[in-house]
Amino acid sequence: MTIKPLIILPDPVLRQASKPIERVDGELKRLADDMLETMYDAPGIGLAAIQIGVPRRMLVIDVAREGEDKQPQVFINPEILKSSEERSVYEEGCLSIPDYYAEVERPAVVTLRYLDRDGKEQIVDADGLLATCLQHEIDHLNGVLFIDHISRLKREMVIKKFTKAAKSKAI
Ligand code: NI
Repeated sequence: MTIKPLIILPDPVLRQASKPIERVDGELKRLADDMLETMYDAPGIGLAAIQIGVPRRMLVIDVAREGEDKQPQVFINPEILKSSEERSVYEEGCLSIPDYYAEVERPAVVTLRYLDRDGKEQIVDADGLLATCLQHEIDHLNGVLFIDHISRLKREMVIKKFTKAAKSKAI
């Protein structure tokens, strides 16, 4: 397993839509393992393949609480079939937007269809932190970031800050 460099805002790669995965093979499983390793190292609770520069529809999540055993989960070609009208608010962050957090409101429960690490189709209802995390990561597959769900003023401030930081790093 390899820790991969993370793609950071405002890299345009983050705005790219990811392509569906056609075959769950050894290469894809290695990518999933690399993503998990990268996520745990960061540390974070979710990561989409595009965040390490791979535009494929796969994400990894582990929402285990501190002190609990690891619960790595791999979601391939995830698709939200149904979203609840009930909504919940979580303070979100993103490994591609380090050290920035903001409250985001999303549907509280989602019904999800996906392929697991073995390529088997699963349909599950997710709620709580997992529901929020899944929606955040699926957004990544469509080139959407959590800052797209906050006010325009706040979003522009964040993008400006990260654009400035990227420029000073390039010099
Ligand atoms: Ni993110």
